[in-house]
Amino acid sequence: MSSNHSSGAATPAPPEIRHTGLLINNRWTPSAAGGTFAVFDPATEQEIAQVAEAGEPDIDQAVAAARAAFELGQWSRLPAARRGRLLERLADLIEEHAGELAALEAWNGGKPIATVRQVDLPLTVACYRYFAGWADKIEGSTIPIPGSYFTYTQPEPVGVIGQIVPWNFPLMMQAWKLAPALAAGNTVVFKPAEQTPLSALYVGQLIVEAGFPRGVVNIVPGFGKTAGAAIARHPGIDKVVFTGSTDTGRSVMRAAADSNLKAVTLELGGKSPNIVFADAPIEEAIRGAHGALFFNQGQCCTAGSRLFVEESIYDEFVGRSVELARQRVIGSPLDPASQHGPQIDRRQFDKVMRYIEAGSADGARLVCGGNRVGERGYFIEPTVFAQVSDEMRIATDEIFGPVMSILPFRGMAEVIERANASSYGLAAAVWTRDMGKAHRMAKAIRAGVVWVNCYNVFDAATSFGGFKQSGIGRELGQYGLREYSAWKTVIMKV
Ligand code: NAI
Ligand code: MG
Repeated sequence: MSSNHSSGAATPAPPEIRHTGLLINNRWTPSAAGGTFAVFDPATEQEIAQVAEAGEPDIDQAVAAARAAFELGQWSRLPAARRGRLLERLADLIEEHAGELAALEAWNGGKPIATVRQVDLPLTVACYRYFAGWADKIEGSTIPIPGSYFTYTQPEPVGVIGQIVPWNFPLMMQAWKLAPALAAGNTVVFKPAEQTPLSALYVGQLIVEAGFPRGVVNIVPGFGKTAGAAIARHPGIDKVVFTGSTDTGRSVMRAAADSNLKAVTLELGGKSPNIVFADAPIEEAIRGAHGALFFNQGQCCTAGSRLFVEESIYDEFVGRSVELARQRVIGSPLDPASQHGPQIDRRQFDKVMRYIEAGSADGARLVCGGNRVGERGYFIEPTVFAQVSDEMRIATDEIFGPVMSILPFRGMAEVIERANASSYGLAAAVWTRDMGKAHRMAKAIRAGVVWVNCYNVFDAATSFGGFKQSGIGRELGQYGLREYSAWKTVIMKV
C-alpha cells in the first residue's frame, strides 16, 4: 500500500454477528426457499457471513405481517406519545451498542471507523430522536370556506410502507427511512442493500428488544431484481420509498405505476456543483472541497463532483487540493487512524477505474492518484483531474468514487449556467465572502440543498431531496415527515 497507509496497530477485532435471518413479525426466520447469500468485507474481499435471501414469498409474508399490524391498529392507533417513546428507546439502545454497531458498519461497509463514530452513528441516533419528538405533534388544520361548514384536515398514516436503501450509509439510511415512517404511524417492510445488510439486522434485534409490536418493522435482506422489485410492485404496499441510482429509481416508479399506483418517494443520484469564487475563504474552501468529494470514498449522492474554481485562483487551488489528496490516510476501515477505505465491491471498483481511464482519454489532466492501492480489497487512490471541461464523462456522470474533477470558470453568469446544465439537481455549494453573491447563487442554482461556505452539513431537522432527475419528495425535517401521512379533508355542514 502507499506510504500514507495507516499502521493498523490498533485495529480492533471484528464484532460478533448475531442475526442473519429475515425479521418478520418480530421473529428471525430463514427464507421460504431456504436460500442465503454471501456478504463480503470490501477491504479483504473475504466472506463475512451468509444472510437469508428474501424472495417474493418472503416479501408476501413481510407485507402480510405489516398489514396485520397496521389493520389491527397495534401501531397506528397506539397513543402517539408511546410511539415516540419507543423510538426514543430504540435511539437509547443504538447508543448503548454504538461500539459494536460502529465496528459492524465499518467492516461490512468499508467505512473508516472513526468517521462512523463521528458522523454515521450520531446522525442515526439524532434522526430517531428527532422523529420521536414529532410522533405526537403531527397536526391538521381548520380551513375557513364560504357557507356554514366546519372544515378540517386530518393526517392519517399512509399504511404499509416499502423501503429500499443502498449500501453507502446503511445505518443512517435505515434511520432516515424508519424513523419518520414509524413516528407517523405506518408499518414497514425494509430492504437493506445486498452488500450491507448486517447493521440493519442488528438494529432489527434492537427494535424487538425496545418493545415494538410485532409486524411493525419487517427486515428483508435480498437482491434488487428479486426482493426489491417484489416490494416495488406489491399490491399490498401503499407507498415505496427508495434511495439509490436514478436508473433503478425509474424502474421502481414504473413498477409502482404498473401495479397499484402506490405513492413513491425517490432520492436518486447527483452530480453536484461545488463553486469556489476567488473571494472565498480559501483555506476553508480547499478543505471543504476535499471533504465534499472524498468523504466516504466518494460514495455519496451529494458528492461535490463538479468542482468549479474561478480562474484567478485555479492553479493554486489545484496544487493545494493535490497536497490534501496525497495526505489522505488509506487503510483498514477498522483502524481508527484510517480516513479512506475501499469502494464497496468489485462492480463499483471497476466502474470507478473505468471513469479514471475515461478522464485521461477525454483529455483531462490527471494530477494525482488514479491507481488501485494494494492487491486485496477495493482501495483506490484519491484521484484529482484538472482542466476538466463540461462535456467530459467525468464531468457529466455520477462516478461514485474518489475522483475529483476541477473545472475552471470565469464569472458568476457563466458558472450558474454551467452548474445548472445537468439532469441532476441534488445538492450544490458556493464559497464566497460576498454574501450578496451567496444569496444570488443560492437562488439561481437548481438543487434541493445549497450549502454556503460549508458542505455536507446534515441535520434531521433539515429536509433533503432532489430537483430534476435527482428525485421526488423530501426526507428529514417537517417536509420529510409529511410524506408519511395521508392528508384527509373533512367538510361538515353545521
Ligand atoms: P441501485 O440503485 O441499483 O441499488 C440500490 C438499492 O436498490 C439496493 O437495495 C438494491 O438491491 C435495490 N434495487 C436494485 N434494483 C432494484 C429493482 N429493480 N427494484 C427494486 N429495488 C432494486 O444502486 P447500485 O446498483 O448499488 O449502484 C449503482 C450506482 O448507483 C452507483 O454507482 C451510484 O452511481 C448510484 N448510487 C446512488 C446512491 C445514492 O445515494 N443516491 C446510492 C447507491 C448507488
Ligand atoms: Mg443496481
